[in-house]
Amino acid sequence: MHPGKVPHNASLRSPWFAPPAARAWRCAPAPAEVRRFHTGLPGYAPTPLTELPPTAAELGLGRVFVKDESRRLGLPAFKALGASWAVHRVLAERDEEGPVTLVTATDGNHGRAVARTARLLGQRARVLVPRGVHPRAVAAIADEGAEVTEVPGSYDDAVRLAAEAASAPGTVLVQDTAWPGYERIPGWIVEGYSTLSAEIDEQLAAAGIDGPDLVCVPAGVGSLAQSVVTHYRSRRAGRPPALVTVEPEAAACVLASLARGEPVSLSTGETTMAGLNCGTPSSLAWPFLRDGLDAAVAVSDAAGARAAADLAALGVRSGPCGAAALAGLRALLTGENAAGHRAALGLGPASVAVLLSTEGPDANPHAEP
Ligand SMILES: Cc1ncc(COP(=O)(O)O)c(C=O)c1O
Repeated sequence: MHPGKVPHNASLRSPWFAPPAARAWRCAPAPAEVRRFHTGLPGYAPTPLTELPPTAAELGLGRVFVKDESRRLGLPAFKALGASWAVHRVLAERDEEGPVTLVTATDGNHGRAVARTARLLGQRARVLVPRGVHPRAVAAIADEGAEVTEVPGSYDDAVRLAAEAASAPGTVLVQDTAWPGYERIPGWIVEGYSTLSAEIDEQLAAAGIDGPDLVCVPAGVGSLAQSVVTHYRSRRAGRPPALVTVEPEAAACVLASLARGEPVSLSTGETTMAGLNCGTPSSLAWPFLRDGLDAAVAVSDAAGARAAADLAALGVRSGPCGAAALAGLRALLTGENAAGHRAALGLGPASVAVLLSTEGPDANPHAEP
């Protein structure tokens, strides 16, 4: 779980860029069955893809859209897409009789999604929460009927303890990050996220656009980014978009790993972007991130807060993690060496960008005034 531990490193403020050939990398798609499964869930509806003309003007792009995950299957973040599909697969493959306890560590959203899924399916959930998760986010998990344990350590510490807790009989670990020997269930979670990208394609097509030129993804352990890479690097149609991850400066493990060319673990600091406060990339995600991403950038909490306020002014409700996508693209396209970044990403004045706003403000009350 802990490849080469490195201390937090201020040089991570510089973005990382792939060689241009990275956009030609290809992989197999997620199963089409996932979309059909989600469509059949009670309360399923595609989340909005909202156009932001003032942001396009600010960033010098043709059109900018935000995929707004502030209301997804009754929860204020995208995570239920992964939890619902993974738990469905776990239960389908289980031979034992009787209820199961679904165990997970979380920095907020995934644990709440697992707890909600367990409650809806008449199962139990046990959720381990590291320090730094807002008390209201912890209470929201308990309100789903889960047994919540607060861990006086980091997200990585909570993941380790959850894995230990899940060795008890009648328990299954449903973790949204992978490590050697534990990759099957995280793989289902990543498959579950594919519905989000499939919706984007349909929504852009309805707007007469055959695909984005750039997609900007907030990253914690990189599982969501893995799913976005899988989607856009497996499509036959359309030109391959540039794919960019955004992390908090206090926990930029994907950026650090890409910069080193191998997965590294960071000692994470404090950030309002609680859902992104992860120190180790998922082992399953790593090859997809290494080979399929175009760039990675880290942003400060202040830049994230400014992006959240700007999105709110445009009518989009983003929590700190959700707004990170705008903060990251803004850093790349309006900060130092903006012209070089624009050229490296293949962007021009007609380009179409999609920002993934992965949570609403109610998911993560950290940034509330
Ligand atoms: C709101 C939000 N956005 C983005 C992410 C990042 O997802 P991943 O950890 O798969 O990179 C998370 C993860 O918890 C999250 O809660």
